[in-house]
Amino acid sequence: MQPLHQRCSWNATESMKANRTFNIQTFGCQMNERDSETIAGILAQMGYTEAGDRKDADIAVINTCSVRENADKRFFGTLGQLKKIKEARPDFVVCVCGCMMQQEHITDKISEKYPWVDIIFGTNNIHELPELLQELSRKRKEFGTDIRSFSRDRHREVISVLDQGGEIPEGLPSKRRYVHKAFVNIMYGCNNFCTYCIVPYTRGRERSRRPEDILKEAEALAADGAKEITLLGQNVNSYRGLKNSGETEKSVDFADLIYMLQEVRGLERIRFMTSHPKDLSEKLIEAYRNCGSLCPSIHLPVQSGSNDVLRRMNRKYTREQYLLLAEKLRAVSPDICITTDIIVGFPGETEKDFEETLELCRQIRFDSAFTFLYSVRKGTPAAGYGGQIPEEVKHERFGRLVEIIDRCSAEKNSAFEGRTEKILVDGPSRTDPSMMTGRTPGFKLVDFPGDVSMTGKILDVRITEGKTFSLTGEPLNSQG
Ligand code: SAH
Ligand code: SF4
Ligand code: F3S
Repeated sequence: MQPLHQRCSWNATESMKANRTFNIQTFGCQMNERDSETIAGILAQMGYTEAGDRKDADIAVINTCSVRENADKRFFGTLGQLKKIKEARPDFVVCVCGCMMQQEHITDKISEKYPWVDIIFGTNNIHELPELLQELSRKRKEFGTDIRSFSRDRHREVISVLDQGGEIPEGLPSKRRYVHKAFVNIMYGCNNFCTYCIVPYTRGRERSRRPEDILKEAEALAADGAKEITLLGQNVNSYRGLKNSGETEKSVDFADLIYMLQEVRGLERIRFMTSHPKDLSEKLIEAYRNCGSLCPSIHLPVQSGSNDVLRRMNRKYTREQYLLLAEKLRAVSPDICITTDIIVGFPGETEKDFEETLELCRQIRFDSAFTFLYSVRKGTPAAGYGGQIPEEVKHERFGRLVEIIDRCSAEKNSAFEGRTEKILVDGPSRTDPSMMTGRTPGFKLVDFPGDVSMTGKILDVRITEGKTFSLTGEPLNSQG
């Protein structure tokens, strides 16, 4: 892998020649969605506009995820489709970025087998995109654009991947999807090295943004009409920011940050994800009592209900500690919606371990859960563990888990029937434009009849039906 170290500024006239367009496809989590907003912002600043379909775009960007094997597979499938566009239009630019690119075996495979990829960059150097495009146009002048003429020793793709991020770049442009809600990164990277997980290898070590920078961003978003922000980090509970305080610097933890942000005028809802149980502090639990704008919901991945599995996953908490956290959260905020992630079939998981997971789900009664089949990730410790679970056992356990999770979700949701909830309206439903969708403070999805003028408002909606995955309701007013 050859990092590009030189920095050069983008010649704006080069991109402004005609109406040039881009299209971004994003796989993975909210981190990647947020990164794609930055990429879109950078390209827009360079004079590109967004194309709805990548077949019509001058630049296609694929922002990848590597968390499970099927994410990798979908990416290579997508690359295959891009070849056809490239053959029809040799000027077409294919950029691939995101978590998969942080792994050398992946970038090597792309260089070798997918010569129609023009630019590869990683999660730590998105801000270099203008320079990379400029480097590409230089290489195209030298080598041309006909992929059939490329060979191993005449590589002309531009590769720049940095193992670790340096100082966090601030002030990058951004093209956000919604006006009324926004993601705000508070930290990057992960130090936890759960033994199944690739993220610490793709996102590097934890780095927290300065609280002043986060506050400034939140204020600007609120001034632009954002009512809700979701604070993003792989483990927001280990946020540690340094704040200027006269001569000295003061350390700000995650709960302090929430107290700071709740002062931002216009911000009505604060959410965050993801929260690691081992670092969930009493101070944060108290914040649910004290901060009116902190939404009564928490995504608290448990991964397993077996202490032995949790230990081998390197999660650093026990099932008893997790149960206690849920109890404390409910004591402070009785209606809090608790959601989770669970992995089925971690190496060595016995039937008894798995039953402990089922039992924990019955005890906690999650509002909903993302359930995953364990997927071997090259380079992680668990990939080398003995006792890999056969696929059919994983699937059988998965089915039993989902049944319990869905039953709990349906019960929890039906308890909302007859209640009136404040819904922040996201817009028309994808499947039925006469229905609007939005979220309760607890992050439950609600569909109700309405029109597009309701988008971005907070409306009172009476819940008429609680289903397994969503609620249905009737708006009581149309003015937020
Ligand atoms: N930082 C977050 C989660 C990031 S990944 C956290 O710690 O909670 C999102 C979820 O993907 C994880 O919670 C886990 O349940 C799942 N996951 C990660 N690696 C996986 C793997 N190798 N196989 C199956 N699921 C995995
Ligand atoms: Fe992965 Fe664990 Fe870090 Fe979450 S906390 S990103 S699961 S290593
Ligand atoms: Fe995937 Fe990277 Fe997020 S691996 S889950 S996009 S941090």
